[in-house]
Amino acid sequence: MAAKHFVGALCLSAMLVGAGGAQTSAAAVTPTPAELHAAAMPTHDDTWWKHALVYEIYPRSFQDSNGDGVGDLNGMTQRLDYLQGLGVDAIWIAPMFPSPQVDFGYDVSDFLTVDPQYGSLADMDKLIAEAKKRKIRICLDWVVNHTSDKHKWFEESASNRTNSKADWYVWNDGKKATDAGVGTYQKKFEHDGMVPPNNWESVFGGSAWTWVPARKQFYYHKFYVQQPDLNYRNPAVEKAMFDGMRFWMDRGVAGFRLDAVPTLFEDPQLRDEAETGGVNAQGDPNLKDTYTSNLADVHAVMQRMRAVVAKYPGDRVLIGETYLPNTAALEEWYGGSRRDELQLPMDMLVGFPDRAGGKTLSAPYLRQYITEAETELHGSQPLFVFDNHDNERSHDRYNDGTHAAEIDKAIAAVLLTSKATALMYYGEELGMPTSTPTRVEDVKDPIGVTGWPKEKGRDGERTPMQWDGSPQSGFSSNGKTWLPVPGNYVSLNVAAEAADPSSLLNWHKKLIAMRRTMPALHDGGVVMLDTANSNVLSYVRTAPAGAKAVVVSLNLSGTPQTVSLDLKGAGLGSAVTPLLASSDGLMGATTVESLMLPAYGSFVAQVK
Ligand code: NOJ
Repeated sequence: MAAKHFVGALCLSAMLVGAGGAQTSAAAVTPTPAELHAAAMPTHDDTWWKHALVYEIYPRSFQDSNGDGVGDLNGMTQRLDYLQGLGVDAIWIAPMFPSPQVDFGYDVSDFLTVDPQYGSLADMDKLIAEAKKRKIRICLDWVVNHTSDKHKWFEESASNRTNSKADWYVWNDGKKATDAGVGTYQKKFEHDGMVPPNNWESVFGGSAWTWVPARKQFYYHKFYVQQPDLNYRNPAVEKAMFDGMRFWMDRGVAGFRLDAVPTLFEDPQLRDEAETGGVNAQGDPNLKDTYTSNLADVHAVMQRMRAVVAKYPGDRVLIGETYLPNTAALEEWYGGSRRDELQLPMDMLVGFPDRAGGKTLSAPYLRQYITEAETELHGSQPLFVFDNHDNERSHDRYNDGTHAAEIDKAIAAVLLTSKATALMYYGEELGMPTSTPTRVEDVKDPIGVTGWPKEKGRDGERTPMQWDGSPQSGFSSNGKTWLPVPGNYVSLNVAAEAADPSSLLNWHKKLIAMRRTMPALHDGGVVMLDTANSNVLSYVRTAPAGAKAVVVSLNLSGTPQTVSLDLKGAGLGSAVTPLLASSDGLMGATTVESLMLPAYGSFVAQVK
């Protein structure tokens, strides 16, 4: 234990020195008592992330501080007071590392510094320090599966077959185009008489294998051609990536969101994926994803990664980008009952029902998956998310054309009154709509160009944050921003919503404040109510001793519904004091015996 603390103290000291601007290696520093006091951070037993609201920032789009039309780190620092006022506990910054920006930062060419268009290491140190003053932690997006093809590791690896990084990526000789069993799809990618070793496809279109003449071999890339996959069967790769994590934790970073982490390993036998019929937006045959995603080998890496993170004080956190088919698969990412892998793999089932067969908001669907998250994770902490930089915003995904404002409020209520850790995406608190380009020549996201018009890319959910009614919505002083500011900013912005008591922003603020201050929402259990109801999702957050329970009832249908909630099962009576409701009439309710909820109406009340 003592040794653990000592290591931690050294790292903290390095972080403080780093925060002041100078770069000092951890081992060279002896912390002074004053430094240690100033650095006081929670102990290993603190589980801040269990109650956290994590807020994703897409760095290009949050706040431009230098007038180049692109957001940056100093812009984020300028907006910390807003985030503190909202009640954010941690920020996840989408990749801000040097990058050719083919995939807007998810093609990293150097993991150990900041892309000059976003600022400098000193700016990052300042952001970490200023955020810490406001009790906000900074998490980075660790693009763990691949690098840019312009990373020096790949440039060396691709130069010949004998260099020191020769085995850092996934290389293969391929097959002769004339070999038996080579399919017509593979033949499309022939070079020098050779074709890819199998039918695997890039998520972003085309074969997942690209030919390099200097090696006379193919390399594997799950994503763009410019994003070669690292070879995690080589321990040197794992070490380099873990060293990078240490570098940032030494500077005070509180954790990482692990990008595309289920895709670290591929089938060593390189078996063909089965076709499922038809073609996707990029024109490639639809395939199963059995041999390049969620292979069991990944879990040993996650266990070792957790051990690296656990050596640091302050309960640093691992968040996973884990699109998984069911709760049982999700559970494995925690390390099951051992809980020795990620603390917070994302539960995408709750927030992205289209991936589990559902399309619209549905009470039975949410009831099922919230219950599974509560009961089938060995007590591990779920992480719910409804929005991110890769998907049409929830405001549009769930919009029925009539009740968008009420639906946004109901989603916020699910996210913030559940027991799960909450993840939000900038602009979600405003109900910022998706603003998809209408002409292919305006599209910035490469998949939107190659997939047009079936796939229009992800620009729509990445437009600049709408701060106020001034030109460029207060995002930038430059008239030409990297993506246009949507015209609706004139009325839909932070300043306007802050001034409107019934706005979605103020709805979020109230929910977040309740979640932070009310023991039932902070720590209480969950009991589902009225479980046969196919339109209304109702539950009670039971209270720890001495506190009051909170009941939540959300009409997830487009017609008014009346519910009669029986709280006896939770040992409670039916008299309530309303806390928050989407319509004024509901604020007069005194019991939940006969509660009339308008279409998509939300009701949150304290049980007397
Ligand atoms: C998932 C990220 O969220 C997405 O934006 C990116 O394109 C892929 N991973 C590849 O890094």
